[in-house]
Formats: sequence, C-alpha cells, structure tokens
Amino acid sequence: MIYLDNAATSFPKPEPVYRASESFIRTQLANPGRGTHSLAQASAAAIERTRRLLAKLLGVSEPRRIAFNSGATAGLNTVLHGLLQAGDAVWISALEHNAVCRPLHVCQRRGVQVAQLPHDPLGRVLPGVLQQRLADLRPEARPRLLVVNQASNVSGLAQPLGDIAALAARYQVPLLIDTAQAAGCLPLGFNPSEVPCCIVLTGHKGLFGLPGCGALYVHPALRIRPLLQGGTGAHSGVPAMPEELPAGLEAGTLNVPGIHALGEGLRWLFGEGLEKVHKHEQALLLELLDGLARIPRVRVLGREDAGGAPLVSLQLEGMAACELAALLDSLGIAARAGLHCAPDAHRLLGSYPHGSLRLSLSALNKIEEVRTAVGALEEIASSL
Ligand SMILES: Cc1ncc(COP(=O)(O)O)c(C=O)c1O
Repeated sequence: MIYLDNAATSFPKPEPVYRASESFIRTQLANPGRGTHSLAQASAAAIERTRRLLAKLLGVSEPRRIAFNSGATAGLNTVLHGLLQAGDAVWISALEHNAVCRPLHVCQRRGVQVAQLPHDPLGRVLPGVLQQRLADLRPEARPRLLVVNQASNVSGLAQPLGDIAALAARYQVPLLIDTAQAAGCLPLGFNPSEVPCCIVLTGHKGLFGLPGCGALYVHPALRIRPLLQGGTGAHSGVPAMPEELPAGLEAGTLNVPGIHALGEGLRWLFGEGLEKVHKHEQALLLELLDGLARIPRVRVLGREDAGGAPLVSLQLEGMAACELAALLDSLGIAARAGLHCAPDAHRLLGSYPHGSLRLSLSALNKIEEVRTAVGALEEIASSL
C-alpha cells in the first residue's frame, strides 16, 4: 500500500515510536501524578519529557504552559468556549476546519459574532488589510480573538503567520493558531512569548504520535476557562479546578501511552532534523505538483506552487473524487476524497459540495511512491 493520507493521520510511524511504545506500555504505564510510587513517577517523567519537547518545537520557554488533551479538536473547543462570551467578536480565516467552525456555530447562537479575516482568492490572509481594519477600530471594539489555520488541510496553503502574529501583538488581540497540518512540517515563524496566543497541536499527523493525543499552549497573558473539571492528582480537597497550568486544563487521567508515543515521534523528528524533514517533504511535494501539471484533466485546488503543508487537493475532470479514491485504493494507493471537514475552504475554492481528492505526504514517503501515484492518475485520466 502506498499511503498518501498523512493529513488524516500519518502512517506508518517511525520505527522507534513502535518499539518504544511497546516497551513503555509493558514496563512503565502507570497513572502520573496519582501516586508517589516509582511507576507513577516514571509515567510522570515521560509526560514531562514530551512537554519539554513540545516547548522546544514551539520555542516556548515555559513548558508548563502546555497542557495535554485529545488533539486539535479538544484544544480549539477549549479556547473558543473558554474565552469567548456573548457580545464578543471573533475573526477567522477562510480556510478553517470544522473543529473551529462547529464550536463557533454554537458560540454564535450564544451571541458571539463571527466574521472572516480579509483574504485573497486562495484564502491567504492579507496582513495589510487586517492591519488597517484593526487600526480603524477603537481598542474596545476590536475582536476578542483572531483564529488562523496555519496550513490548510484542503489546499496546504500556509498563512503568513509571522505577520498576523505581529499584528496580534501590536494591537493586543489574542490569536488562536491551529497547527494540525503544520506542526512538524513548517516552522511557527514567530516567538510565542511575544504574542498573546494559544497554539493548538495534534499529535498524530506530522509529529508522528498516535491518534487521540494533542496539546494546547496558552500564553501567560490569557486565561482560558476549562471545558472539563475533575481530578488533577493534587490539591484534591479544594472544590475548584486549579488556576495554574498545566493542571488547570488537564482534568482526568491523561492519555499516557499517547503522550509517550508523541514524545518518541518528536525525538525522531529532532534526531532527523526539522530542516531535513522539511526539505524532503518539499521535494516530494514538488515531484507531485510537477507530475500533476502534466495531466491535462487534473485541476489542483488552492495553490500556486510548492510550499506550505505537503498535501495537494485535486479534481479530475470527468470523474467524481470519491470514485477516483476508490479506483486508487484498488491500485493500492490510499488517498482521501470529500470535503475533508472543511466545507468553507471547498466553497472558497469552488469544489463544494463534491469536494476533491487529497494526496498528503509525510517525511516517510519516498519519491518512487509519489511517481507511482502520479503514473496511476495519468493512466486513469487517459482512460477517460
Ligand atoms: C486543520 C485541522 N484542524 C483540526 C483538525 C482536528 O484534529 P484532531 O482530529 O486531531 O482533533 C484537523 C484534522 O484533520 C485538521 O486538519
């Protein structure tokens, strides 16, 4: 099987993730923070090791401001429901995932106003226009939150995050960043300690952890009301959730094996070198885009060139995306068709309601796999 659905979840994982996970589950898996015995301490050490690695990835000086959760969906819901109140305005990019749009649909019914950030036809935020809009508003009339998907899971387009973050800092408007498709593939491009921001991570894509595990960074200037209340292993006699992080956003037993595996994925990434991984993924992406450009009936959605996240959405004239995905699957190539949980992105790119076929790469894909997939698409297209 040639697996080109890494934007859904990366597969396979690097070998050390499998090996270390099995050994950890067999020998050290206890409940961190819920006892002082040595196994609980070993599990707690694994959690803190992953926290430090995530802090290194983001360039965050205080690892304790990173709380673990079940993934990007949990992080986005936590911030949207835990920050916004009736009367607040939130400005979002045109390429948001349903993990942003659906919680905001609920927030809207509770009196939150949602508007789109200014953008170009591909959905790229226009920092100059945004700057003008923020400058034109009195501070109290500015939005309570900006939300930006660092890289689109439909087109791969990367937002000018450094410029947006600089505006968030200048006008002191909190910024929520969804790094689901970017983490491990693209640098953040700004220093999180200088921007009032929340950064959402999911562990199972470019970071090579397992599904159901992610994390949320919260800048010290921001206070997020927790979605969940429960045991944290400390101060158990106090009725309220602790204020301090990470405990304040970590109610209940953590996904210890998931967090440990995420740590192994991060260790592998740092061992390989983020720069090297990025270069390899971009080489694969270029090969894919060049190959697709040679197929007359193929239309690539929402990107002008390589760069951004290593994924491509396409439509093949004369064949529905879901039929194309089924055909590829029968040839041993895994790809995902549909709306990719991002209907607004497809509306913008003209591919709603049928969606597109998405081919998404990982650091573990090989150039020959990309060539085989392009060859298969060429053959399918020429048979139409
Ligand atoms: C851009 C984006 N945001 C959020 C999510 C949700 O991530 P998770 O399912 O890990 O919570 C995804 C998952 O595909 C995504 O691509």
